[in-house]
Amino acid sequence: MIERLLDSAKKVASEIKNREFVRVISHHDADGITSAAIICHALLRCSIPFQTTLLSRLDEGILEILRDSTKEGDLLLFCDMGSSQGEILAMIQRELGIDIVVIDHHRYQKEPPTGIFQVNPHSVGLDGAFEVSASGCTFTVAQELGDNVDLSGLAITGALGDKQRMVGVNKDILGVAVKNGIVRVKKGLKIADGEIREELELSTEPYIHRDEKNDIGAFLEELGVKGRLWDLSSSDENRLIDALIAKIKARASEDAIEDIVGERYILNFEVIPDAIGLMQTIDACGKRGKMGLALSLCMRDRNGIDEASAIRVDFQRKVVRELSAVDQNIHERDGFRYIFAEDRDITGAFAGAIIRYLYPDKPIFVINRLEKVSKISARGTRALVASGVDLSEVMRIAASKVGGVGGGHNVAAGGSIPVGTEDEFVKALDEVL
Ligand code: C5P
Repeated sequence: MIERLLDSAKKVASEIKNREFVRVISHHDADGITSAAIICHALLRCSIPFQTTLLSRLDEGILEILRDSTKEGDLLLFCDMGSSQGEILAMIQRELGIDIVVIDHHRYQKEPPTGIFQVNPHSVGLDGAFEVSASGCTFTVAQELGDNVDLSGLAITGALGDKQRMVGVNKDILGVAVKNGIVRVKKGLKIADGEIREELELSTEPYIHRDEKNDIGAFLEELGVKGRLWDLSSSDENRLIDALIAKIKARASEDAIEDIVGERYILNFEVIPDAIGLMQTIDACGKRGKMGLALSLCMRDRNGIDEASAIRVDFQRKVVRELSAVDQNIHERDGFRYIFAEDRDITGAFAGAIIRYLYPDKPIFVINRLEKVSKISARGTRALVASGVDLSEVMRIAASKVGGVGGGHNVAAGGSIPVGTEDEFVKALDEVL
């Protein structure tokens, strides 16, 4: 599968080679951060100077960021964003006259403006939602710039961040990673390595719904399981897996139950060797505005590990706290559900856990009212997508009806709408779904 990306990866790599300066702009989630790190490592190794900025979204504000940090002859490289924002790319070309390349996996409607090369799985018949993420696409470009096979562990981490499976291009990259001793695969419970009680209490993947009467401590004591996940005997781990499945079965989606057990990836070259732990840590840092810290971990700087790990714990605690109150706050419609969230940073993780572990039968929309806009995260399941739901389209149509914007992937999409239009937006969803 990976060979389908090679033509465009070679074109983008040849645009990068021999540049005096590359300006990298990427997304602030785990996939965007690992993409940025992959290209930063590759540029360093080619001795090409660069500057990197991680953003929550790409909008007109990018012009101000670029005006003082680029000059004619520089290359602007977008990762994990750009394919569906052709009008912003055209504006940058017009205003600043710099060359642009895009490495993205989001579905797009229009080809990019002329002169802009892109690597995008959708343009070669691959599904960017499930079988390759931006980090995988960026890895294919990095491999065209030199021997960067050790960066395959970061590509796998980015794919995990976007909840992708090891199929298609991801499977090819994993194969390369294992063959070259970059990643080791071990089957088992797919949660972050750490003290098992703390990890289960913090876990949103899987989220274990509980009340005061059935806490995790008592659950583990009854099972007779304690210690660090990676140190558990296989009989303890299997007992724990069976008990966890029994606990979430009544409410979780089939995908989620299936995903509890599977391959864990051990990253031999990264400062946090547990791929799930690294992914959760950089994702939390990105969402909490500590993008530089997240990127430094992926650049293999150990100095920030303690600070970043504390941010992860705090972030996940917050998501778990909100999840425990979902039943009281959720609103039900014929074709979907929606809920308001207080904390802007957690909407994506919150929506993901609701659809997978609490209410999997209809799409969920999490609405977060900010000062000027309301941010929305929409999530579905693979079963809903198979039955014809495309949340990227739903978000695009419903958000534009109320003067907002939306898009993303069929299974996970997002958007923003003007504050005060939330009821109208819900009515627009009623018409579409
Ligand atoms: O923000 P959230 O994580 O919910 O976004 C889900 C997906 O939707 C992401 O891939 C994001 O890039 C995409 N998105 C988009 N347009 C928006 C907001 C989000 O394409 N306006």
